[in-house]
Amino acid sequence: MSGVNEIRSAFLDYFEKNGHERVASSPLVPRNDPTLMFTNAGMVQFKNVFTGLEKRPYSRATTAQKVVRAGGKHNDLDNVGYTARHHTFFEMLGNFSFGDYFKDVAIELAWNLTTKEFGLPKDRLLVTVFSEDDEAAALWKKIAGLTDDRIIRIPTSDNFWTMGETGPCGPCSEIFFDQGESVAGGPPGSPDEDGDRFLEFWNLVFMQFDQVDAETRLDLPRPSIDTGMGLERMAAILQGVHSNYETDLFRTLISAAEHAIGSVAAGARLASHRVIADHLRATAFLIADGVLPSNEGRGYVLRRIMRRAMRHARMLGAEEPVIYRLVPTLVSEMGRAYPELGRAEALIAETLKLEEKRFLQTLDRGLALLAEATEGMSVGAQLSGETAFKLYDTYGFPLDLTQDALRQRGIAVDLDAFNTAMQRQKAEARANWAGSGEAATENVWFPIRERVGATEFLGYGTERAEGQVVALVRDGAEVAAAEAGEDVSIVVNQTPFYGESGGQLGDTGVMRGDGVEIVVSDTRKFAEGLFVHRAKILGGSVRVGAALDLEVDHRRRSQIRANHSATHLLHEALREVLGSHVAQKGSMVAPDRLRFDFSHPKPIEAGELAEIERIANGVILQNAPVDTRLMAVDDAIASGAMALFGEKYGDEVRVVSMGTAEAGEKAGRPYSVELCGGTHVRATGDIGLVHVVAESGVAAGVRRIEALTGEAARGHLLDQEQRVRRMASTLKVSPAEVAERLEAIVEERRRLERELAEAKKKLALVGDGGGSSSGAAPQEVAGVAFVGRVLEGVSPKDLKGLVDETKAQIGSGVVALVALADGKASVVVGVTPDLTGRFDAVSLVRAASGAIGGKGGGGRPDMAQAGGPDAGKAGEAIAAVEAAMLG
Ligand code: ALA
Repeated sequence: MSGVNEIRSAFLDYFEKNGHERVASSPLVPRNDPTLMFTNAGMVQFKNVFTGLEKRPYSRATTAQKVVRAGGKHNDLDNVGYTARHHTFFEMLGNFSFGDYFKDVAIELAWNLTTKEFGLPKDRLLVTVFSEDDEAAALWKKIAGLTDDRIIRIPTSDNFWTMGETGPCGPCSEIFFDQGESVAGGPPGSPDEDGDRFLEFWNLVFMQFDQVDAETRLDLPRPSIDTGMGLERMAAILQGVHSNYETDLFRTLISAAEHAIGSVAAGARLASHRVIADHLRATAFLIADGVLPSNEGRGYVLRRIMRRAMRHARMLGAEEPVIYRLVPTLVSEMGRAYPELGRAEALIAETLKLEEKRFLQTLDRGLALLAEATEGMSVGAQLSGETAFKLYDTYGFPLDLTQDALRQRGIAVDLDAFNTAMQRQKAEARANWAGSGEAATENVWFPIRERVGATEFLGYGTERAEGQVVALVRDGAEVAAAEAGEDVSIVVNQTPFYGESGGQLGDTGVMRGDGVEIVVSDTRKFAEGLFVHRAKILGGSVRVGAALDLEVDHRRRSQIRANHSATHLLHEALREVLGSHVAQKGSMVAPDRLRFDFSHPKPIEAGELAEIERIANGVILQNAPVDTRLMAVDDAIASGAMALFGEKYGDEVRVVSMGTAEAGEKAGRPYSVELCGGTHVRATGDIGLVHVVAESGVAAGVRRIEALTGEAARGHLLDQEQRVRRMASTLKVSPAEVAERLEAIVEERRRLERELAEAKKKLALVGDGGGSSSGAAPQEVAGVAFVGRVLEGVSPKDLKGLVDETKAQIGSGVVALVALADGKASVVVGVTPDLTGRFDAVSLVRAASGAIGGKGGGGRPDMAQAGGPDAGKAGEAIAAVEAAMLG
């Protein structure tokens, strides 16, 4: 039973048998506590259950919890490798009572497991209790039968456990295993307690208080229990070895590294092997929980851990990336207990390889600089802060890596000078910012950014998390608090809210805290990585320092995800159908629609558009998982990722791929691969459907498509269908026949219009036009036949034709026709050829033009035309022609 995996199972089985709910480990990035960098104990996920804020359907629980103690209150990073027990990552086995049992049952359960199930001999065990805790001491005596000399009272904070600056806490009692006289060290509380002989393996915390802030400690609603057993330590005890690194799991990991590097773990090399094995675990589990190496916050702690391991691999002789090659061994050892490790295996290996590749490029040069700078130094000497800063800034050496490298030689780093150099660089960076365009309008954000650092974005993995308010801005100035009814911008240390970028709109949602309710109407990013929530306080008040529960509007975010992923699919489908000249020129991803602008010289034909839509929907139907990785820009582009020309990318980029290409040269490979920082669906099927609703031109050579997805697309199509049904019912045909019927109707209408125009012309010539002459018959004027008429409802463009027809009818004479349309009058005068010697159509039409307020007219001697605004004087125009004929 003594393998690590068996011990873990035995512990959980035992407590399950004793009425405890078996609960999965929570992620290493706590969702429920913004003050914690990493989950640092088993009780973190139950914090709010202890205080009564959160209810669960059980009052007893047991877990094997992933824990990282690097950065924050519990930080063991510096010791790892040099001691038998320290880890950055370890597993904490625990049992918990939420107001159910208290000290007596906790002690009894622990004692039975230790002595009966695990079979540790009683005479090798001793315990500590908090000095004032008589009750615990008495219980140990009664339940375990331990003599007083084996129940040691400790007056210090060693036996009062706190999670961090705040949170549930209480006195505790620890169980120790005596490894025997062969190991140096004294019992707890003795001057030489730091020796390894008495090994603490289980801490029972009698949770009684909630530390609200530095001054306030409240009683928990009901006394509770939180225990933590280091799995690695118990494995060492049960396997009879003196170091956690000699247990089965670590031996396997170290032996994989021995093979990969070609270096035996012995002598001076032992520490390096231990560092690598430990840091491999921390790295893998952190990446699996969504942390990626970066220069800020959690990402930087991860980077420090990774680089520390890399330096040790280099010391062992590795010249090529090697730690990533250990990932399969880790997954086969721990992947059954933690399935997330297997799911993230590729991401872990790739991220490691990338970081190794990049760091190896500067590691040797940095180490050479370090060797040169410390040449001749002896124990107690100090490396200059300037050199340490140069190593940090130019060679990517985290400070603790430099310290670690000098540790064995007993050389320290001048930390004050290092910090001064760091401050100077920040001041310079600020001066540069002040010159940029954005800085001019958003000055308020830069000092905040510098003071609080970049906001950690948790929204790739979760839509809900706690955050701590680090700044409030009202009317352009920082304030300490904001009240109900006020509009305020809120900055928190970590947030699941996406800040508008890359075309994707910012998230909206709510924030809640102690009596305060806030609505977030938008989220933006300023000053390189500061997420600013535009908000309104609905009720209560909020202060800087407050913890808030942050919740993104899930429905809206889901729609945005679908639209963003659909944009990627359309982009690739456009390239496939129109050609690879298609490049993104802009995009807008909103909850209700998406817009994508791209280079293409001419409108997209209907058939092409249908094909683009068909292809994109084909990938949606694949329901393939959407994969996100972190890669070096060059590698990403080499892998076929589409990058935007002119876009600023960091050294590393997120690469989002989706779907599988079914044909063509990419067959079998991801269908769409893009560099993208946005949020996406988990699988393409979540998009549901994509439908292009508009195609237009926005500038020379740039086209735009607008599309809908999911419910919006369905709703749109439904509307369209209902419209067709209404048309069908009006037309009294089936929906399938609507188009044909409409075409017939339109054709019929054209024909009728033509017929109507003809009829009007005929009517005009035969009917009473209302002019000075009436009837169809010509008059005689100046000895020749004259037809003069005013025609209503005749288009001016038909006038000439009518004049010709009338001329033909009368054979010889003069014709003057006036058409009235839109309140204006048009007049055409015609003279038959035999009379053009006597009458000039142009001068006759000019006479008419004067009557209707026109400005003359023009034409030929046999046919001339004029127009004027005074339609009411049409009759006078005819009279004017007659008068002109009479001369
Ligand atoms: N929370 C306690 C610890 O971490 C059990 O030691």
